[in-house]
Amino acid sequence: MKALEGIKILDFTHVQSGPTCTQLLAWFGADVIKVERPGVGDATRKQLVDVPGADSLYFTMLNHNKRSIELNSKNETGKEVLTRLVEECDVLVENFAPGALDRMGFSWERIQQINPRLIMASIKGFGPGKYEDCKVYENVAQCAGGSASTTGFLDGPPTVTGAQIGDSGTGLHLALGIVTALFQREKSGRGQRVTCAMQDGVLNLARVKMRDQQRLAAGPLKEYSQFGEGIPFAEATPRAGNDSGGGQPGRILKCKGWEQDPNAYTYFIIQAAVWEKVCDVIGEPEWKTKEGYAKPPERLDKLNEIFDRIEEWTMTKTKFEVMDICNPLDIPVGPILSMKEISEDEGLFATGTMVKVDHPERGEYLSVGCPIKLSDSPAQVRRSPLLGEHTEEILTDVLGYGGDDLERVIDSGAVGEIKRDAAD
Ligand SMILES: CC(C)(COP(=O)(O)OP(=O)(O)OC[C@H]1O[C@@H](n2cnc3c(N)ncnc32)[C@H](O)[C@@H]1OP(=O)(O)O)[C@@H](O)C(=O)NCCC(=O)NCCS
Repeated sequence: MKALEGIKILDFTHVQSGPTCTQLLAWFGADVIKVERPGVGDATRKQLVDVPGADSLYFTMLNHNKRSIELNSKNETGKEVLTRLVEECDVLVENFAPGALDRMGFSWERIQQINPRLIMASIKGFGPGKYEDCKVYENVAQCAGGSASTTGFLDGPPTVTGAQIGDSGTGLHLALGIVTALFQREKSGRGQRVTCAMQDGVLNLARVKMRDQQRLAAGPLKEYSQFGEGIPFAEATPRAGNDSGGGQPGRILKCKGWEQDPNAYTYFIIQAAVWEKVCDVIGEPEWKTKEGYAKPPERLDKLNEIFDRIEEWTMTKTKFEVMDICNPLDIPVGPILSMKEISEDEGLFATGTMVKVDHPERGEYLSVGCPIKLSDSPAQVRRSPLLGEHTEEILTDVLGYGGDDLERVIDSGAVGEIKRDAAD
């Protein structure tokens, strides 16, 4: 039995933020019914296409383990079917532009009338306030949530990060809100609204930078490289390059082969507890006791010199050799892994974090599996649905349509063309 078995999700999500949330719920065992516009579907099906005619990786990698029903929610019969879905499901998840669900005739008030036990979960770009009507995408959220202003180097522009903290990060937040609301419903018997704004989700992940904003009032941030370099702090948390956020000096350093390989680098942290071991490894044993080097506060104005010296050493080793030498000594280091290296990492396939998935239109592809492991509810990754692949099955098995009534719905044009022989 899967953790969320028996829970039905009306998945009205599209693009990335919402689909990552419902994909997690599907991996935990929920029956996720993705509602898509007839003949069109989630726009990502046709975005960044690599195999002509096949659903894109953008779509397939965000919509595993779901079923797809085509449904025009603006058509009268479509509204009838959607109402039935609201009656049958436990959770509705959506990330439409603000007001879109109301315009369809499915306001929160109306949904509560149809099914008071339903949990309605929404992602929007901003919470209530002056920007609440804005449409928002990933990088907008990274900028509005404080991440971009604190990412990059001091002498460069604000920078967005490759990790999709606005979209996938908010999807993750919403999934937690949904299971929490399901838990409360066990006691209250009532559904509730769950909302998460992308700005808020990013800010939550950038929490330590808000910590630093307040610490500025007490003086310069001594663990930032700019302190040791004698560069004054301004009013806001600055960009800190590759400094580590936890107060221990850390940098990204070149390793052997860096001239050819853009990822031949290692992260290297010089924690106070392992300083002596670092000195021995890099061949500077006298730094263990030398005045100006022995104690962490004394070293702050020499971090550039110290890391240059460590880099001289790391450049004689591959990033994996650095790991092999430093790990047994408890010196915290980490190789900079490329997506290519990760895609070939057998250990990640063994744990299911990376998976190979077969798809009728595109053949085998790689995907990232479920990063959260439940011992009693292991996730098995199944391919994403083709557009409308389960329309008839959902109308009959979930909603109980049959006979003339089923034909009436199909003939109305509300559910697109029925695919009776969808490939497996
Ligand atoms: C992502 C986003 C910017 C995309 O905007 P968009 O492509 O214009 O899409 P919208 O959400 O506005 O939906 C477009 C229309 O399709 C309609 N639609 C969607 N599914 C439908 C269906 N099955 N049947 C009929 N109409 C449908 C919507 O009702 C909406 O119509 P309206 O404009 O008349 O209200 C926007 O949805 C958004 O801001 N979402 C919230 C934040 C978010 O999740 N952003 C990150 C995405 S990764």
